Amino acid sequence: MQEFDDLRRTALERVTAAADLEELRELEREVLGKDGPVGRLLASIPALPPESRRETGQRANTLKRELEAAVLERRNAIEEAALEAERSGGSFDPTLPAPKPRRGSLHPITRVTRELEDLFTSMGWHVLDGPEVELERYNFDALNIPRDHPARDTMDTFRCDPEGKLVLRTHTSPGQVRAMERLRPPFRAIVPGKVFRNETVDASHEHTFHQMEGLCVDRDVSVGHLIGTMKTLLRGIFGKDIEVRLRPGYFPFVEPGFELDARCPFCTSGCSVCKQSTWIELLPCGMVHPNVLRAGGIDPEQWTGFAFGLGLSRLTMLRYGIDDVRLLLSGDLRFLEQFA
Ligand code: FA5
Repeated sequence: MQEFDDLRRTALERVTAAADLEELRELEREVLGKDGPVGRLLASIPALPPESRRETGQRANTLKRELEAAVLERRNAIEEAALEAERSGGSFDPTLPAPKPRRGSLHPITRVTRELEDLFTSMGWHVLDGPEVELERYNFDALNIPRDHPARDTMDTFRCDPEGKLVLRTHTSPGQVRAMERLRPPFRAIVPGKVFRNETVDASHEHTFHQMEGLCVDRDVSVGHLIGTMKTLLRGIFGKDIEVRLRPGYFPFVEPGFELDARCPFCTSGCSVCKQSTWIELLPCGMVHPNVLRAGGIDPEQWTGFAFGLGLSRLTMLRYGIDDVRLLLSGDLRFLEQFA
């Protein structure tokens, strides 16, 4: 035991004499490690007669706590001394402001989504969510796009099982059917979210992008209601009245279907954003097809509706003058920090 007491005394002396944090860390490893006094004591236990094992175990634990306390005390003393030295040195200026913590910021798509959510909820619309991994039935069949329908070719789909019953949703339109199942008419709902297509990626096409579905079901809903809602949306986003026009567009889940264009908010006689045409292709929309209302359990003889599918990624690009859709989900902080 004399040998053990010597080891203990030496360890404590060395800890108390450690000159800086690095030396202390080294020492901590050494004295509390396998070959230090605690480690040796523990290693000696199996060879001891049974009646002295308990006492030796207790000694080891007491010593461990004693050494840990000594290390902690020395660490505090070293840190305190370093701070004191800095304070009393000529370069310490207590009037300087503390360094600011780095603040994160909202992603531009999140900002635009939240603005639209505020706008639509202020008009009495619900905000709904839907699964990104979706049943084929909701993504296609219930939207009047059966398996052999050519419209499926326009959305090259990521399939999640060999039978293709489970897909990554190619648009937010399955949210229409899910909304009809959840809410009783009359109702209005938007469904913002991420969608996926097996696209060849370029500056205006991503394989993963954001859309926002809108669905209004009520009695005697007309194209006029659709246009009015879209003009309100544009006023909310661009802060001014913007002229819109409808062109015919084909989607199996709306009849009639339209492409809605907005007057370019950035010019009056043509610019690079509107490709010199003064019009910007903004969103597809239309009157909900009776088959889709039926698929959602709603009687098309009593209820009518309009729906739209806003390209949120493209709207975000327009809003902030972003010229490449691939930047949005690149995770590149140099890009994202500009929105702080
Ligand atoms: C649709 O996805 C329909 N579900 C929209 C709809 C809803 C029509 C309700 C009628 C009623 P489309 O494939 O055109 O339609 O996509 C809608 C918008 O998503 C486009 O106008 C565009 O802004 C955006 N978009 C489409 N593909 C991409 C892509 N690869 N990258 C970025 N944005 C895209």
